[in-house]
Amino acid sequence: TLTGPLGDKDDPAALYPAVHTRHTSRYPFAETPLPDAVLTALAEAAHREHLSLSFASGWHLRSVMDLALEAEARNLTDAGAAADLARFTRRADDTRPATEGVPEYAFGPRRRIGKAPMRDFAGGKPIPGRPTVDFETAPHLALLSTARDRPLDWMRTGQATERVLLRATVEGVSTSFLTQALEWHDLRWPLRDPMSGNAYVQMVLRLGYGPPGTRTPRRPVHDVLDLEP
Ligand SMILES: Cc1cc2nc3c(=O)[nH]c(=O)nc-3n(C[C@H](O)[C@H](O)[C@H](O)COP(=O)(O)O)c2cc1C
Repeated sequence: TLTGPLGDKDDPAALYPAVHTRHTSRYPFAETPLPDAVLTALAEAAHREHLSLSFASGWHLRSVMDLALEAEARNLTDAGAAADLARFTRRADDTRPATEGVPEYAFGPRRRIGKAPMRDFAGGKPIPGRPTVDFETAPHLALLSTARDRPLDWMRTGQATERVLLRATVEGVSTSFLTQALEWHDLRWPLRDPMSGNAYVQMVLRLGYGPPGTRTPRRPVHDVLDLEP
């Protein structure tokens, strides 16, 4: 059924308009607290897909930020991570089709050292005209977690991520990802909140009030989806 007991805003049809307005926003967000009603709505969106969404605070928030910084530092000196970044992003002199790679205009400003751990899509290289700014000191970070780590959990994570991001967009909340620590086996485990009972952190999101981000190109549908007649 497309409608449910949690109210209209959880109806996938109500989330649909946000598909066109949701973008990853790599800009600083205000540290203004998010209203409890919004936090509850986002957690319910995750529960719909059998995931838990927890908001890191206090020592746990500091620990999640430290783990992301550690991952970011490793990425800057790791040849594999540098190659991944080069494939995943698009620089001005890129010769691939225009749909390949996150374009420079979506990188957002460069983070001043010592603030919220944003992944630097420029890999530390200078981009002319790119400003350097302060990000949040205490960002709103949300962790999507599962009790187990099966392919089913990974699929549900994708669905939960989509629901949470779209619901946030409907609520006027901007979002970005902070997944660096998840990519290092030894940094993923300590990310979890030991009080939560959910061992496997699957996704780390940054939430807040701020610029909505920028639209980026998509590959043509027939490049990514085979439809049987
Ligand atoms: C599994 C996954 C992990 C991601 N990790 C990051 C990240 O660590 N930092 C970041 O800036 N964007 C991250 N992204 C966001 C993608 O770069 C983004 O979705 C892509 O650039 C498309 O832009 P859009 O979200 O605005 O449509 C991640 C996306 C996915 C699906």
